[in-house]
Amino acid sequence: MTGPVRCEAVIELSAVRANVRALRSRLRPGTALMAVVKADGYGHGAVPVAGAALAAGADLLGVATPAEAVALRAAGVDARLVAWLWTPLQDPGPALALGVELGVSSPAQLDAVLAAGDVGGRPRIHLKVDTGLGRGGAAGADIAVLLAAAATAAAAGRVEVVGLMSHLASADIPGDPSVAEQAAAFAAARQAAAAAGLTPAAHLANTAAVLDHPELQLDLVRTGIGLYGLSPVADPAGLRPAMTLRAAVALTKRVPAGHGVSYGLTYRTKAETTLALVPIGYGDGVPRAASNAAEVLIGDARRRIAGRVAMDQFVVDCGDAPVSPGDEVLLFGPGDRGEPTARDWAVACGTIDYEIVTRIGPRTPRRYTGRDDEPPALRGD
Ligand SMILES: Cc1ncc(COP(=O)(O)O)c(C=O)c1O
Repeated sequence: MTGPVRCEAVIELSAVRANVRALRSRLRPGTALMAVVKADGYGHGAVPVAGAALAAGADLLGVATPAEAVALRAAGVDARLVAWLWTPLQDPGPALALGVELGVSSPAQLDAVLAAGDVGGRPRIHLKVDTGLGRGGAAGADIAVLLAAAATAAAAGRVEVVGLMSHLASADIPGDPSVAEQAAAFAAARQAAAAAGLTPAAHLANTAAVLDHPELQLDLVRTGIGLYGLSPVADPAGLRPAMTLRAAVALTKRVPAGHGVSYGLTYRTKAETTLALVPIGYGDGVPRAASNAAEVLIGDARRRIAGRVAMDQFVVDCGDAPVSPGDEVLLFGPGDRGEPTARDWAVACGTIDYEIVTRIGPRTPRRYTGRDDEPPALRGD
């Protein structure tokens, strides 16, 4: 099969929609679904993924940074949108002015929200508590301080507390005791919030918890990786990987046995062979850790990358197979044609599939398929 002009990431939006429906089908009645589209939709494109997720029934969107939220608004996405990671150097005003809801982890962040005033109507905030992950959110005695400050501001009509959130450390590890410990800490935080007069939507679960700990679904879940069809738990739940990374062979050459390949000459041919040059490298987001490790599909054979992945290219030893310039190289995809999956690449590279898809950078063109059954307003074309 002929490859793309150089390389491309093909994103099946129909798979994103099907994944949202599959995740929704696992939700308890009354639980809402937030589609997490941070980091450019885990590398898939935040705007098209947001459109597909909303078309398939996602209730709201989540991103990490206010700038990501502002970019979605600029692209015409007017759905409910939450951003939960920001620093004291960032003015929350521009995001609030666009109706973005903000995660608030500390009294200082609450003060920054209050200082921005009613730029976009009464600010809507999600109080964030650290139940054990040790990252964002108020922890320990600071939780009561944050709740009290937020309750005072809410009573004065200066903010609307719409969420109470926390994030799990190990929901993807079967039987990990930290999940129950975090759940108990979150229940205590909910009780403390109620005692302070706050009963906002509670949200704790990520994709792994949705699938493996349904009792933690509460009012709202924040699903990221599952939208993209990658399952963090053993049960794939009918999810379909949405990204296929492809390239075209740039050059082939016949070389003798003992020929070195790529920087450091870490690979040498064992016999006379055909080398295929693949024009995609770490500058496009292909991990250098894939050197001599990850496999690609060329024709109907899976072959390991030969030598080091360079900034713009890598090489595959194709033996005596009839490979020609322009032939398709499938790096990873859903596996339909026997190609590796992002999970296979993660194992080969010693990382997680989240990183494999998210790191595919802007130099790799995205091509979207399967937009057909979305309303035109959401398709963005
Ligand atoms: C706060 C928060 N909630 C939810 C998610 C989504 O998690 P997942 O992609 O595992 O579903 C993330 C992603 O890391 C996150 O940082």
